[in-house]
Amino acid sequence: MTHETDYSLLASQAEGLLSGHRGRVANAANLSALLYHELPAVNWVGFYFLAGQGLELGPFQGKPACVHIPIGQGVCGTAAASLKNQRVADVHRFEGHIACDAASRSELVLPLVKGGELLGVLDLDSPEPGRFSEADEAGLSRLAQIYLDSID
Ligand code: SME
Repeated sequence: MTHETDYSLLASQAEGLLSGHRGRVANAANLSALLYHELPAVNWVGFYFLAGQGLELGPFQGKPACVHIPIGQGVCGTAAASLKNQRVADVHRFEGHIACDAASRSELVLPLVKGGELLGVLDLDSPEPGRFSEADEAGLSRLAQIYLDSID
């Protein structure tokens, strides 16, 4: 099933929501909530931040999730290690996928890089296989950049 999202509208909403505050936690919390409620067919949206040698759970919407993800492991750890978006149509076919919510079937993870340094990742899960299109990847990359520009 395809879902068409007006990412220009969502980007305007995000810019309004995140302007006026430069804190990374608060802005991550509000962006998670915006995306979780505005995007159809997502069951988890949230952040993992680089902490020590791995990723640590940040603000999110959805079911409770794993707290630590080593760099290089799972979809999130792969995005962090490669600094490349991971758009996974079927998580059951992704070697090493970490299942936090058993309902998740597809996933999009975007690395967050600010000033040349990895800050963390933005992770979206869907209960539908193949939920995230190239257009979603492009639109959500734009939203990730709005987040990065909103924080110090
Ligand atoms: N599936 C992710 C783990 C995080 S949860 O989806 C919230 C992964 O494989 O890295």
